[in-house]
Amino acid sequence: MRMVTVSAPGKVILFGEHAVVYGEPSLAGAIDKRIYVNLETRDDSNISINSNVAPYRISFSIDNLGSVEGFTHVRKAIELAFEQSGKKSGLDIEISSEIPVASGLGSSASVSIATILAIHEAVGSKISKNELAKLGHKVEFGVQGAASPTDTAITTFGGALFVEPDKEGYQRIDASLPLVVGCTGIERSTKALVENVRALRDKFPEIIDPIISNIGKITREAKRRIENSEDIGELMNINHGLLTALGVSNFKLDSLVYAAWGAGASGAKLTGAGGGGCMIAHAPGTQAAVANAIEKCGCMAFDSAITGEGVRVE
Ligand code: PMV
Repeated sequence: MRMVTVSAPGKVILFGEHAVVYGEPSLAGAIDKRIYVNLETRDDSNISINSNVAPYRISFSIDNLGSVEGFTHVRKAIELAFEQSGKKSGLDIEISSEIPVASGLGSSASVSIATILAIHEAVGSKISKNELAKLGHKVEFGVQGAASPTDTAITTFGGALFVEPDKEGYQRIDASLPLVVGCTGIERSTKALVENVRALRDKFPEIIDPIISNIGKITREAKRRIENSEDIGELMNINHGLLTALGVSNFKLDSLVYAAWGAGASGAKLTGAGGGGCMIAHAPGTQAAVANAIEKCGCMAFDSAITGEGVRVE
């Protein structure tokens, strides 16, 4: 029996959400919150998955991998890891997540990547980071139907990535940003929010298209500023205003953004699809005050840098 622990980080979108659906670039980075997958092979053909987040616990026989309920990303990751490594085994899996789920912080991508690598380590099979990112994307694609490869790439490689949808690959950005992440605790559906933006664009194309193109300009300028160690706060504020114009902010997100501004953040915006989920603030020298102001609104907040560390064997 072999035991291994693998961890992988969550992510935030710094700039460009929604506009990226229409071909504009996006900029995203790994955060300091991780998912830990502890995995042990078994001598029989049973698989058990335990987690500190819902649905908490399932167990089944290896032959029923595709036909049980719950932990869909983990089960798909197991299936594809068995296929890729050419080896199968009974497994005991313990998942411990520091990343809030369904809040746009990339928890499904990180658990998928950590599970695939943990299985390869446990059965003694090699997988490169490029193959890992590709397989993780296949997991998300298989479970969700459509999925951008950004989340799985970030959780694999860490750091920040500039993503241009019409180009192959990513550009790595050297970003060390003092952020605060604030979570509304409201779960939301990325798919529904993307559909709402599409409906608004179909109704008012001449008004919405320039907003989308301006978000693209903000993302390109933000990349340039980050690379030159210049402040990105104002660009975050403008981006938040444009996302509000697209109808994806709400009262709770706005109140956290205002709280962050009031506590000295250089900029703040919602992150991800909106409608709930989380916001981010850029807070050089004011991280503690900003986190405190968000907590006073009754929400969870944590400091994070954009971390260089992607998936790792513990
Ligand atoms: O909710 P998240 O963090 O998965 O972000 C969704 C980002 C969108 O641009 C709204 C959709 C997408 O597929 O890029």
